[in-house]
Amino acid sequence: MHHTGIEGPKGVWWKPAHRTEKVWVAVAFGWCMVLFAMMPFWHLRGGQNPTGIRHRVEPEAFRQRTEEFIEAYRVGEEENLPVVEPPPGSHVYLMGRMWAWTPILRLQTNATYTLHLSSVDVNHGFNLYPFNVNFQVVPGYDYGLEITPTEAGDYRIVCNEFCGVGHHLMVGKVVVVDGGASAEAEGGSDVNRAVEAASVVPSTPSPSPPTPSGGDR
Ligand code: CUA
Repeated sequence: MHHTGIEGPKGVWWKPAHRTEKVWVAVAFGWCMVLFAMMPFWHLRGGQNPTGIRHRVEPEAFRQRTEEFIEAYRVGEEENLPVVEPPPGSHVYLMGRMWAWTPILRLQTNATYTLHLSSVDVNHGFNLYPFNVNFQVVPGYDYGLEITPTEAGDYRIVCNEFCGVGHHLMVGKVVVVDGGASAEAEGGSDVNRAVEAASVVPSTPSPSPPTPSGGDR
């Protein structure tokens, strides 16, 4: 029989469900529960979600703090961006703004820094190329990660959160130079594992990453 939108088909939903449909609903529901349980489990076990210190911060205050940081440790300039070389152990500020990461950081291997990430306008995404390390950079929050670069290199920070017409131009830079002294890099943290996992992906060229060794301090 032919049906139109005005004259709908005869409904059957009040009839008892067929056995296969019940089985299907049960399987789907069970699988939903498995996935639901995986979220907290994998947060704790999987090492994909590094824990850092997180504070609320006014975007303007973060911008000022970044400026102070730049003034204190500035060593040069590159492509209109200040190049900053903070001493080992210091607090490092990286500001996301449409459409740049400020400043360019020079860090040393085997030194530990606390990297503060925030945005002063919209959401940005911190992606450390070529590694699979991703953070949301959200205005109003200061995300502090303890990092220990383990290998010298020239790394890029790619914004992976669409943030306007200049999004594709928002590429920052981190240079890691040999620090000489070999303070033992703490292994086993969440980000270490994420970074190690990323660097064994076959298609990834593998210089080793600056390794954030996050903790929940
Ligand atoms: Cu910042 Cu996309």
